[in-house]
Formats: sequence, structure tokens, C-alpha cells
Amino acid sequence: MISKCLFPAAGYGTRFLPVTKAMPKEMLPIVNKPLIQYAVEEAKEANLGHMAIVTGRGKRALEDHFDISYELEKQIAGSSKEYLLDGIRDLIAHCTFSYTRQIEMKGLGHAILTGKQLIGDEPFAVVLADDLCINIDGEGVLSQMVKLYNQFRCSIVAVEEVPKEEISRYGVIEGKMISDDLYTVTNMVEKPSPEEAPSNLAIIGRYILTPDIFKILENTPPGKNGEIQITDALLTQAKQGCVIAYKFKGHRFDCGSAEGFIEATNFCYENFYKKNC
Ligand code: G1P
Repeated sequence: MISKCLFPAAGYGTRFLPVTKAMPKEMLPIVNKPLIQYAVEEAKEANLGHMAIVTGRGKRALEDHFDISYELEKQIAGSSKEYLLDGIRDLIAHCTFSYTRQIEMKGLGHAILTGKQLIGDEPFAVVLADDLCINIDGEGVLSQMVKLYNQFRCSIVAVEEVPKEEISRYGVIEGKMISDDLYTVTNMVEKPSPEEAPSNLAIIGRYILTPDIFKILENTPPGKNGEIQITDALLTQAKQGCVIAYKFKGHRFDCGSAEGFIEATNFCYENFYKKNC
């Protein structure tokens, strides 16, 4: 059973400066809800109750968000705005939150390794909050992946087809097709040029990882951009055993880019915010 979800959230968010100067990028709002809350809600929907967040300097707002504000509770109790707190209250009541700090930014692989003490020796999920995933008519992406894990019992990465000119922003897989939406990974490259890319299947920020990934990460040298890459560690895992790539059902918004952020905002305004107010 998977019960823990890791959220790497130590990055600087330089693409959104200056708003991210004193505010964590994970707290950027899509309408009235921060990105990290969408991510935690997706994990809870997948029946993961333990949220492990890898933070860094200047990220205390994340911890405060998943805690009670007694002053606010007192003010809002019985008022017409109280319903706006329903979602966050539910998360606080039903999930546990633990935090650790990444002292130096040495890549996504390093961030995941920093979370080792919070995860222990069990399979776990990873969610990158700036990839906002919504499956409006069905179960969330993480929930889909947890089901697959129960079937395959190995690491799983979510992938989607992206246009050639965008491929160098992503980790890219090469795989043997098992079925329409499933591949056994045979190769993986972090942020290849369009010429080097082994396919158009890009990894997006949802992973299920088996705990042997930690030992592999400890022995993974810096790769692309001098950073320890989860993509490199997963390739080792694929060669040693098995890694599955899954073309998920739903829509991904790249909220690390201004275009994706605006697109997500419009979508959530129409589909969630307007309907609840
Ligand atoms: C990270 C991973 C990359 C993956 C991407 C998904 O890159 O290194 O393999 O495709 O997330 O969003 P980043 O966006 O942190 O540069």
C-alpha cells in the first residue's frame, strides 16, 4: 500500500520573479487556491494521507497554510465566508504533514533524496505542484497511477506527448508499448535537444517510486545542468528491473510557465470557482 506523497517544493521559481522573491512559487494561486493545495488534494484523492514536503529557505508559508489559524477561525466562524475554508480544513483534519529542508538546490533527484527520512523504506508518490493535473470527468492522475502500481509493483512515470519544439524542457522516455497507454521504459534522457529526443513522450510531474530509488540516487552523479536528475536514477532502475511509463487521462497545465498558468486559471475559474460561488 502506498500511503505517502512527497512534494519537492524548495525551488526558487525564478521564472516568476519578482512575485516569487519572498513568496514560495507553490503558494501562487490558481484563482483562490494555491498550487500546493491542488497537489495535496490530488494525493488525498488517491488515498495518500501522509504529505512529505521538501521545503527550503523562505518557504514557511507552506507550513502555515496546512495549519490552523486560530485568529482567522474565530473571525470567520458563522460568517457567510466560512465555506471558503471547507477544503483546507478537510485536508488539515485528515492528512498529516511533515517537512524537511533542502539546504542546497542540486536538482530534482537531490530534492527527492532529501525526503528519504520522511518516506522511509516504502513505495511513495511524488507530485510536482507546478504541473497541475485535472481529470474533470474521472479520477485524478495520482489515483490512476496508484492503481497501476498495485498491478505492476514498480516505479511509474506519467508521460504525455508534447510538440517537438517543447521537448527539451522535459525528461523524455523511450519505451516498448504494452498497451495503448502503457510502456516499459527502455531509455530516458533529461531535457534532450529535439534531435536527441528518443520520442515525443515527455515525463510530467507525477511519479510512483519504489524505495530502492534512494540508494540509486545516492550513487547517481550530477547530470544535465550539473544537477542530480531523477530521470538518470530512473534509467538505472529501468535497466536493473522495470519502470513503467503511463499516458494518463486528464489535462496537465504547466503552471511553471506564464501561458500554462493563465490557462489553468481560466479553466479553474470556469469549472470550479464560478460553480462554487
Ligand atoms: C523536472 C524533471 C523533468 C520532468 C519535469 C516535469 O524538470 O527533471 O524530467 O519532465 O520536471 O515537469 P523541471 O521542470 O523541474 O526542470
